[in-house]
Amino acid sequence: MKDVYILGIESSCDETSMSIIKNGCEEIATTVLTQMDTHAEYGGVVPEIASRMHTENITIVLEDLLKKSNMTVDQVDAIAVTYAPGLLGSLLVGVEAAKVLSLVYNKPLIATHHIAGHIYANNLVKPIEFPSLALVVSGGHTELVLMEGDYQFKVLGATKDDAIGEVYDKVARVLDLPYPGGPNVEKYALKGNHTYDLPVPMNNKDLEFSYSGLKSAVINIKHNAEQRGEEINKYDLARSFQDVAIDELVRKTKQALDEHREVKSVIVAGGVSANNYLREKMKELCEQENIDLCIPPMKYCTDNAAMIACAAYPKYLKGEFADLSLDAKSSLELY
Ligand code: KG4
Ligand code: ZN
Repeated sequence: MKDVYILGIESSCDETSMSIIKNGCEEIATTVLTQMDTHAEYGGVVPEIASRMHTENITIVLEDLLKKSNMTVDQVDAIAVTYAPGLLGSLLVGVEAAKVLSLVYNKPLIATHHIAGHIYANNLVKPIEFPSLALVVSGGHTELVLMEGDYQFKVLGATKDDAIGEVYDKVARVLDLPYPGGPNVEKYALKGNHTYDLPVPMNNKDLEFSYSGLKSAVINIKHNAEQRGEEINKYDLARSFQDVAIDELVRKTKQALDEHREVKSVIVAGGVSANNYLREKMKELCEQENIDLCIPPMKYCTDNAAMIACAAYPKYLKGEFADLSLDAKSSLELY
């Protein structure tokens, strides 16, 4: 079969990225331009600024990608783009760029879900072995997804309230740590001990998650200390929070594996999969359960277009193309 080259575009949050992937699994070249330093000045992503910066950066990213890959747009077989979920203004920049490339170069357009991207990033390591259990952990998602085949997503359980990444970011603000919150909480946790008593998120038997109680508990500890004129130990509070938050993910993953003995591999996907404590704990669990674990290397855990081109490949093979009426959506379920 002829090799298939897909040009992926990602602009759902604060990274402008393009990538060319061969046959859904081999990286030819990727360019990522992050706006992190700009948003750090404001303590979080400012949507208006994000979309404006995507507009400024998108052609620079394309030029850089073509130079690095030593390819032309003419040589690729399809253009894939993240169309949901994310910041609407940011998504629109990528979607419009993809439409223009598709129109001008007469290439099929593939609409890709951002979370499918995080899951399919694992194909850059090795082919996903089905049935697979994906733990999706990002700023907007916390869910356990059973995949029986390509694009067969069955959500076994999701968060009833806050997503884990969102809570990491909130805890970072409570601890006065700069943006990006998650990695900074992790750094502090590394230097602390589990000394604070925090509630286990949801001690139930189903596969749903809930993080709002844990978040409130951290806020209350800080608030009560302030009222008493005491200092909190940021390192210990970060550690206590991280232990409880991550252990809950691992516990629920084990429960899902117990209920679905047919599962052959476990995938961890989304921005929080960059967390080393989570990576270690999932490794321990999968060793115990004697099951294959796949977590993308760090550079594919944060937002990037390589994962978008990977996720587009099964759609390319099935001929599932979008037309030029493709619109961006700020929220959209995976299934
Ligand atoms: O997948 P992602 O890049 O964007 C979304 O699609 O949401 O995930 C971003 C989230 C943020 O909430 C960020 O704080 C969190 O992932 N995150 C982390 C770490 N790195 C990123 N959370 C905990 N530990 C990390 N090392
Ligand atoms: Zn993401």
